[in-house]
Amino acid sequence: EKRNLILSFESSCDETSVAVIENGDTILSNVVATQIKSHQRFGGVVPEVASRHHIEVVTRCFEAALAEANVTYDDLDAVAVTYGPGLVGALLVGVSAAKTLAYVHHLPLIPVNHMMGHIYAARFVQPIEFPAMALLVSGGHTELVYMPAENQFEIIGETRDDAAGEAYDKIGRVMGISYPAGGPVDQLAHTGQDTFHFPRAMDNEANFDFSFSGLKSAFINTVHHADQIGESLNQADLAASFQAAVVDVLVDKTSRALKKYPVKQLILAGGVAANRGLRDRLTQMMAQFQSTDLVLAPLKLCGDNGAMIGAAGYVRYQHGDFGDASLNAEPSLEF
Ligand code: KG4
Ligand code: ZN
Repeated sequence: EKRNLILSFESSCDETSVAVIENGDTILSNVVATQIKSHQRFGGVVPEVASRHHIEVVTRCFEAALAEANVTYDDLDAVAVTYGPGLVGALLVGVSAAKTLAYVHHLPLIPVNHMMGHIYAARFVQPIEFPAMALLVSGGHTELVYMPAENQFEIIGETRDDAAGEAYDKIGRVMGISYPAGGPVDQLAHTGQDTFHFPRAMDNEANFDFSFSGLKSAFINTVHHADQIGESLNQADLAASFQAAVVDVLVDKTSRALKKYPVKQLILAGGVAANRGLRDRLTQMMAQFQSTDLVLAPLKLCGDNGAMIGAAGYVRYQHGDFGDASLNAEPSLEF
């Protein structure tokens, strides 16, 4: 039986990544070049710096991805690429590279939504069964996505202000933790207690939306007030209190969504899906939904990567959702 091989590109933010994916569920290679160090001294991702880095490494990335997978252009069936949402200059690097390779090697081009990519990281754990729900938590997005069938997406709830990962990065900055702060704050949280009882915004409202800017402000005010009066706060307790507030709201809203939308699977994906506290609490909560499987995106595939774009790209390929030379980057692309 012929295998389907997709070369897939991801460059929406601060990771340049190219993968070769077989039949949408097997990783032959997944090369990830991160630029985090270049952005750390600025405390966040600088778009112009990101674009330049992508340009510098993208050629080496796809050459390495093909070499590691031990395939040539003749073996490929398609080229997939993230075309949004993300930073326009960063996206354009992947889009230009993918378009060029598709044109030169006469391969179909598959435009992929970055958020659909995050969901399909779950595909490397087990096949997705529909209807499904995804809790998508990243640096730019926090949303609950209902999927009635393959390739169909309906956002039933989303953040009204900051994304969860963005809130982690901002409070991390106040704690003197360098970007991206999610991982270190998560680790610190496990050594502390929820002693500050920060607000759980919108937790009791009858919708599936989120808000994290009030929590962020409460956190920053607490730290500044302590600074002013010369009091030193327990860092582990601060981290634990912040994380408890974030996780409480994410888990409560997801539980409420599952009651209204019974599904076969709940998928947790996106950069913040690597959060140990969130993975643990969601796993406990899911015990009450006996007929819904919890699929946690693999830890290594929670952050941005080309593999997830190849998995989503395979679904688009099967549905004939192709692009052409006019494909452009769409920074605010929605489902
Ligand atoms: O999905 P991603 O790699 O990029 C976007 O598409 O935004 O997500 C990056 C975000 C950052 O805000 C980072 O702080 C957060 O994911 N993150 C975490 C953890 N690991 C990464 N947040 C909480 N806990 C973690 N363990
Ligand atoms: Zn992402």
